[in-house]
Amino acid sequence: MALLSQAGGLGYHLRALKYKPRWKPFCQAIEAWLNTWNPPEKKIILFGPSAGYTLPSTFLGRFEKIGAVEPDPVARYLFKKRFKNHEIEWFQKSPLFPKNGIFNHDELKTFIDSHEDYCFLFCNLLGQLHLLFPNEVRSRRFSEFKASLPYLFLNHSWASYHDRLSGIIKPSSNLQKSTQSLPNSQLVSLAYSAKHLNVPVELIDHEMEGFAPALSRIYFRWELTPRHHHLIEGVFESRTD
Ligand SMILES: C[S@@+](CC[C@H](N)C(=O)[O-])C[C@H]1O[C@@H](n2cnc3c(N)ncnc32)[C@H](O)[C@@H]1O
Repeated sequence: MALLSQAGGLGYHLRALKYKPRWKPFCQAIEAWLNTWNPPEKKIILFGPSAGYTLPSTFLGRFEKIGAVEPDPVARYLFKKRFKNHEIEWFQKSPLFPKNGIFNHDELKTFIDSHEDYCFLFCNLLGQLHLLFPNEVRSRRFSEFKASLPYLFLNHSWASYHDRLSGIIKPSSNLQKSTQSLPNSQLVSLAYSAKHLNVPVELIDHEMEGFAPALSRIYFRWELTPRHHHLIEGVFESRTD
């Protein structure tokens, strides 16, 4: 399934190869943002890194131990080739998986708690869950899961960059940061230029509205292809000892 997945798989690897130059500004912005995140932990778990196309080697180099939850075997193979200097412990089976149609945090909590002294980074995964598990994400239980997720990381640093909205139009660079969580309506008026707002344009909602409301956030623009533009949100929290 992972090979043909809508949120990764072979199509994603081909796009990464073809559009590498277009992805560069986004990758550089992610690198600059990750440089401002200073978790005290020296070990990290990456969720959904794919082949690490958007991850800087300098960032990975800050950690003594790296684990990665990545079900796609091609992604794992390409990651190893791209980052020869980093040894990775791979987790093929993800603890972030719905059971009986419901996202339940028990397995994820057990996974987090069993990794003492690790911090965690969701690599553009949470905003893809609605593609991977459309029925489960549509259910009310997903909102509850999303609301409780930040509380699972008690005593750990964690971060996520995830899709908020995407479509054929490019978000403007007006929106850089926000100290508060922005609802979709506000995001649209702040991140899409006025000339687009008067014409009907379809945007995909990646179901991450209201996530981690207590945290400040940053916004990135990612030109996935010339006809797919994503508005990505980044949040992080560092453990205070
Ligand atoms: C959009 S891609 C992420 C892009 C990637 N971070 C990059 O740097 O290019 C989403 C990734 O999440 C992985 N994935 C899918 N389901 C997952 C799950 N339940 N847990 C962890 N990773 C998952 C996919 O295999 C895919 O590689």
